[in-house]
Amino acid sequence: MKFQKKILCIGAGYVGGPSMAMIAYKCPDYKVTVVDINDERINRWNSNELPIYEPGLDKIIKKTRGKNLFFSKDIEKQIKENDIIFVSVNTPTKTFGTGAGMAADLQYWEKTARQILENSQSSKIVIEKSTLPVKTAAAMEKILMLAKGKVKFDVLSNPEFLAEGTAVKDLENPDRVLIGSHETKSGWRARQTLVEIYARWVPQEKIITSNIWSAELSKLVANAFLAQRVSSINSISALCEKTDADISEVAKAVGMDSRVGSKFLNAGIGFGGSCFKKDILNLVYLCSYYGLQEVADYWESVVKINEYQQDRFINNILGSMFNTLAGKKICILGFAFKANTGDTRESPAIYITRKLLSEHAEVIISDPQALKNAAIDLEDVKGSVKYVQDPYRAASGCHAIAILTDWDLYRKLDFRKIFKLMVKPAFLFDGRNVIDHKKCFNIGFNVYPIGKPALSHLNIIQND
Ligand code: UDX
Ligand code: UDX
Repeated sequence: MKFQKKILCIGAGYVGGPSMAMIAYKCPDYKVTVVDINDERINRWNSNELPIYEPGLDKIIKKTRGKNLFFSKDIEKQIKENDIIFVSVNTPTKTFGTGAGMAADLQYWEKTARQILENSQSSKIVIEKSTLPVKTAAAMEKILMLAKGKVKFDVLSNPEFLAEGTAVKDLENPDRVLIGSHETKSGWRARQTLVEIYARWVPQEKIITSNIWSAELSKLVANAFLAQRVSSINSISALCEKTDADISEVAKAVGMDSRVGSKFLNAGIGFGGSCFKKDILNLVYLCSYYGLQEVADYWESVVKINEYQQDRFINNILGSMFNTLAGKKICILGFAFKANTGDTRESPAIYITRKLLSEHAEVIISDPQALKNAAIDLEDVKGSVKYVQDPYRAASGCHAIAILTDWDLYRKLDFRKIFKLMVKPAFLFDGRNVIDHKKCFNIGFNVYPIGKPALSHLNIIQND
């Protein structure tokens, strides 16, 4: 079959894999290839056990793989053969040198740019899909401009807004697709090529274009705004716990103002995931770099509140359980950073588990998708950690349960049965406000939600 367009993506991760699968699915006449330096990842994409868990993704892969979607290890050959190249390699926070702990580590990006340059025999459109600090496109262009002869590169910024767990839905029905380019003739032409790809399934009015710097910055700011909402509601949850207010009632009342909106107002143990913290710290670094210290401090406080919320949760566990956790068994329900994913990157569960272990608690972790990743995250810890898939078996013999991920299945658990299996007094810390607190209290649990009064039988005894 002769394909209309040939598209390559470098980086077969959470972003590259699903977003290319969607293009292949919506455009059967395009050939889409995804490459990665990690051979094992490519093997998994070519197997029945995909490297990431994402509802609905396996169906799309089944329909496209081997027809117009290919996963390959030969990066150099694929660069030669494709003229539209998405780059979706990771951009972690720098761990060394200037900007360590804040700035993005762009070594993979630069390496990828050089690889594209060295293997290009024809002109290409290079599209940044990774979230990057503003002006990264400029750095990439400086490398690509070294090209000799007739080979020219147009660099576009097309940030991805998909959220994990809903990637397929988000890709199929995005709120918007953003494409940034240079305001030049060739920039506009390149932009149009990309618009045509998305226009196959995204309504025209949702495809927005901008200059390249606005596109880069918009992605950082979108994530910073979302994270800021989570920190805002979490900061108020602390106040609710000191007063008789209920965070769910406050969030509902505030969110019904159409100017505010109701989404992203769920209080909990804080945000995790590979993007929020990294992108905010990136923004903070950029602001400091440009001498905007007040702006940098403002955004940094979003991360500080996130850390504060996790410490509050641990202190609450410690305080409620008579200030000692040594030798006590604590069952963690949910290790993923959010429901419907096996991803544990920056999951609050990592920090919380480590803190519990430092108090010499024994930790039993249960999660329907994330146990493999949890074991990797906790590889170096000292102390007793067990991984038990079945929540009933995990909770059996425990002094406390801490719910750390909003998996739907936790709403449906038989807490009467669980209560019987636990050591008394049984404690239940709902870090995501997902269960029926009153019901669990009536069963006999001492229940500690986020941002709501605790329901404790022990208080009643003390007050009497
Ligand atoms: C990553 C970034 O973290 C995010 O900021 C960006 O928006 C998109 O890319 P994600 O897809 O979740 O997000 O990262 P990850 O799952 O780690 O995938 C990146 C892939 O790139 C990995 O499979 C890695 O092996 C690959 N890679 C990395 C290359 O193929 N070449 C490199 O030089 C470096
Ligand atoms: C986020 C952005 O939503 C997405 O647009 C971007 O492309 C990548 O980063 P993701 O990290 O997959 O996506 O998950 P998201 O649904 O945004 O949740 C992030 C974190 O915030 C999770 O830990 C979640 O539990 C937490 N959260 C979210 C809350 O604590 N309360 C809320 O009300 C919403």
